[in-house]
Amino acid sequence: MIISTMEHTKLNYEFIKTHVEHDKVGIITLHRPKQLNALNTELMLELGHALKAFDAQLEVGCIIITGNEKAFAAGADISAMANYEFSDVYSSDFITKDWEIIRQIRKPVIAAVSGFALGGGCELAMMCDFIVAADNAKFGQPEIKLGIIPGAGGTQRLPRAVGKSKAMDMVLTARMMDAKEAEQAGLVSRIVALESLMPETISIALTIAQYPRLAVLAAKESVQRAFEGSLSDGIMYERRLFHSLFSTQDQKEGMSAFINKRPPVFHNK
Ligand code: HXC
Repeated sequence: MIISTMEHTKLNYEFIKTHVEHDKVGIITLHRPKQLNALNTELMLELGHALKAFDAQLEVGCIIITGNEKAFAAGADISAMANYEFSDVYSSDFITKDWEIIRQIRKPVIAAVSGFALGGGCELAMMCDFIVAADNAKFGQPEIKLGIIPGAGGTQRLPRAVGKSKAMDMVLTARMMDAKEAEQAGLVSRIVALESLMPETISIALTIAQYPRLAVLAAKESVQRAFEGSLSDGIMYERRLFHSLFSTQDQKEGMSAFINKRPPVFHNK
């Protein structure tokens, strides 16, 4: 990543693309297509930088994060995490340090999701203020298959969005939810045809961007309060459990099996 200035147009990102639509809507496109936009630290740093730049850019009134047709993001980068130890993730404050810049953004952030939004990808979408889903979107928290649990707020935000029963089902079975189920459950605010995802989401963002900025900021801040408080405690609790799972053999086995394209053999250790 080469960052010459906070002015977004002069940035040269490696894993994301940014542009402004209609002078008012900042668009961030996750761009690791070969890895289905798997989220690594570099990408998350770039995303955080771009979000802050749009938040600071006066004419921008709303921000959209999107991916490509096949994937919003298929999760945190398993290859990058596979050899992490507890001491690595705990001492570097993995996730908390690089992933949560989005929580500091005051302007509305919409996730425009097509294709897979899995693991950290689903969690990133849930960190946004709301989700617009294309009809091919698929949401899931499949971390259990890798010997870990969601670590970027999934165990806290998913139950708040869809209720305990469905959240437990998703987190414990690793099954995916399609766009229709996600809308019915309250995870996404609207479904649109795949080809209309960006035009429709930009139109929604323009609606928001036309409203008085201070009211928009206050409205977002106020709705957020409904989810704060115990959420932070819950996320901290989740984070420490997530970190500790990097000390298990099954995490190494689950990630190694994924990378080597073979079935995992777990020993519950
Ligand atoms: C690294 C990934 C990846 C990931 C996909 N790829 N997901 N690499 N990390 N999360 C890579 C594949 O290895 C493959 O690389 C390429 O992207 C295309 O993926 P395929 O598997 O060939 O595609 P397909 O058969 O269409 O299957 C799509 C899929 C599957 C169902 C989404 O890729 C999958 O199950 N991915 C893992 C999903 C997951 O477990 N996510 C949770 C991660 S843990 P090559 O080189 O072979 O072409 C997580 C923890 C969050 O997110 C904790 C806090 C952040």
